[in-house]
Amino acid sequence: MSTLDNKVIIVTGGAAGIGGGITSELVKRGASVIAVDVNEEAGKNIEAKNPGKVFFLKGDVSQEAVAQEAVEKAVSKFGKLTGLVNNAHVSRQKPLLELKEDDWAISFGTGFNATLNFMKAAYKELKQSKGSIVNFGSGAALQGSRFQASYAAAKEAIRGLSRVAATEWAVDNIRVNVVCPLAFTEGVEKWKEQFPEDYKHVVEQIPLGRFGDPQTDVAPIVAFLLSEDSKYMTGQTLMADGGDIKLR
Ligand SMILES: NC(=O)c1ccc[n+]([C@@H]2O[C@H](COP(=O)([O-])OP(=O)(O)OC[C@H]3O[C@@H](n4cnc5c(N)ncnc54)[C@H](O)[C@@H]3O)[C@@H](O)[C@H]2O)c1
Repeated sequence: MSTLDNKVIIVTGGAAGIGGGITSELVKRGASVIAVDVNEEAGKNIEAKNPGKVFFLKGDVSQEAVAQEAVEKAVSKFGKLTGLVNNAHVSRQKPLLELKEDDWAISFGTGFNATLNFMKAAYKELKQSKGSIVNFGSGAALQGSRFQASYAAAKEAIRGLSRVAATEWAVDNIRVNVVCPLAFTEGVEKWKEQFPEDYKHVVEQIPLGRFGDPQTDVAPIVAFLLSEDSKYMTGQTLMADGGDIKLR
């Protein structure tokens, strides 16, 4: 028996990048996945690679109706919902004073609002299944990295929300934890091209000496939080970052 047999999990941004690695690993461990993503090509690919185990829902997570639709698909396709991974988050890196309303809106819309809306939409089903929520934070937010104001603010809002939900929803047997990953994805590749010095600096600081792999390094930590193995853990932030940041 695999650790995620009979689990049904929504993964936002679940077609590519870290989310794609998470979708693939959760399926490998026995789960069925609703992968919500704007990238249709990647979504169809991951669905085709995992017949009957991945349902691709094309949708923008910043639209509230998409959250409801994802929960409905989980129930209609797989009969229930046991887990939610709020992974998608888009932001623009600029000096603080150059960030415009639209920049703040995209980070809070795809990051904080989407996380909140998916949590609210999933609540009823997760209460029934004694489910688990994994939200995504970031080392850049914990450290206050330059040019990351709109991103860092949304990420720390997500952590605050997660801690409160962990406390409030514990009586409902819903657990809420946060993962801060560090993994080499297309997004990181673009950032590396834009800010090569920052990239070099980050790699030099990682005790394990490299960026993680989405599926083999980050996804197993997410899988642990979605499994019964973490049933006595809620409200925590886990660093999946090669030892870069040691939270106390
Ligand atoms: N990559 C890292 O090292 C790193 C570091 C810290 C935190 N994170 C966090 O991890 C998560 C995943 O990061 P990533 O690097 O894989 O991101 P990414 O940008 O590479 O891709 C994420 C996926 O989300 C999808 N997506 C983008 N906008 C969407 C929207 N509005 N609705 C639905 N899907 C959408 C993309 O199509 C893609 O498939 C994010 O929350 C990010 O902030 C990543």
